[in-house]
Amino acid sequence: MAKASARYVCQNCGAVTPRWAGRCDACGGWNTIVEEAGLSVAGPEGKSLGAKKGRKAALMPLAGEEAAPPRLSSGVGEFDRALGGGLAQGSAVLLGGDPGIGKSTLMLQAMAGWARNGAKTIYVSGEEAAAQIRMRAARLGVSESPLMLATETNLRDILTTLDAEKPAVAAIDSIQTLWADHVESAPGSVAQLRAAVHELVSFAKRREVALLLVGHVTKEGQIAGPRVVEHMVDTVLYFEGERGHQFRILRAVKNRFGPADEIGVFEMTGAGLSEVRNPSALFLGDREKRAPGAAVFAGIEGTRPVLVEIQALVAPSSLGTPRRAAVGCDSARLAMILAVLEARCGVSFGAQDIYVAVSGGLRVTEPAADLAIAAALLSSWRDKSTPAEAAFFGEVSLSGALRPAPQADARIKEAEKLGFTRILAPDKTKPLSGGTARLDLLETLDDLVNRFGRPPGHE
Ligand code: TYD
Ligand code: MG
Repeated sequence: MAKASARYVCQNCGAVTPRWAGRCDACGGWNTIVEEAGLSVAGPEGKSLGAKKGRKAALMPLAGEEAAPPRLSSGVGEFDRALGGGLAQGSAVLLGGDPGIGKSTLMLQAMAGWARNGAKTIYVSGEEAAAQIRMRAARLGVSESPLMLATETNLRDILTTLDAEKPAVAAIDSIQTLWADHVESAPGSVAQLRAAVHELVSFAKRREVALLLVGHVTKEGQIAGPRVVEHMVDTVLYFEGERGHQFRILRAVKNRFGPADEIGVFEMTGAGLSEVRNPSALFLGDREKRAPGAAVFAGIEGTRPVLVEIQALVAPSSLGTPRRAAVGCDSARLAMILAVLEARCGVSFGAQDIYVAVSGGLRVTEPAADLAIAAALLSSWRDKSTPAEAAFFGEVSLSGALRPAPQADARIKEAEKLGFTRILAPDKTKPLSGGTARLDLLETLDDLVNRFGRPPGHE
């Protein structure tokens, strides 16, 4: 039975026989019949791959010179940075974000930039009328750009347009409005989204068009979100920000053409998005009026060091189960730090509500933020400010020991640049050669607790 899928094929005429023979009955050739094992024994043809063979793919060695794809600069520096140094030719980029966060604004500014820099650029909108886009362009001051507009939602018409016009860069705003006529479900459904994006991306790869797709993040409901197509594109960018804040962060979560986790920082103004070149100054806020419960974290976002202020509030709870709320950082991470403080350092927050927030609307995901979060908590708990000249970084392990953080040099350098003269960091962190800041090294979280002093009953 194991041989069920084996077949004997004449290499001369291609005739298939169930058993081997010295002479092919079909063409009369001698010694031309060779056994060919089928590809699959899993089931009948149509249900499995069956016995039919495909074409053999060409194999090539790993070594070899490959030119990096040419990059197009949009002139919007923070966008180029998030892309990994400009838009790679022929790449597919997904730009996701909440509705109203500024995706269309960012896209229009960047597209106008590429058009101005000489690339043939087409912006296809399925959401807004041409008049609306023109009004926005006037407000953004990019009306003079040779960018071409289309308002269209039919996938077939969009592909035909791109095929005829042969742009170097094309943007589709948004993928949820696309409608592919070969798929029988409503626009915005998972099936429509997958089919439309698959067609667009394979078209763009064949024609070397750089393709930018805008997708709305959806919380619930009938509309599929951009996550279902993340695997089909080269680069995934998310545009994030708090509604009440004017700051917006463009974060690369996947990038086949550059580092992931790179961020671009923008500010939403009356005339569109303006770049923030020095994010640390922004996230640190006003350092003059400092209250207890704040600690400065020397972080790394992508390839760039960024200093942020972490704020904590520890207050007596009136609830049976005290509240733990984290804005801009991981609540599981906060729970872990609280558990280590309790188990290893004897500091208990059992009867206290705890709130932790990251200033400026940034999201901090690095484990190296642990030490700063702990410092902010202890500072609020003891009602004692952290030193004004100090910045913190370091990861807390479950044993209470501090683990060194990667790229310590870059963190220390940025902190020095912003005038911090004291760095609290894990033991064994090396000082900068020629650096001016004093390193204050800590072995365990307990060492940090001792800096704040313990109240009676917590020794
Ligand atoms: P938009 O780009 O339309 O968001 P999205 O495409 O992500 O849904 O931006 C919407 C918001 O941005 C809108 O509430 C108004 C604000 N905005 C400004 O504050 N300044 C501007 O210059 C522009 C164009 C928009
Ligand atoms: Mg929009």
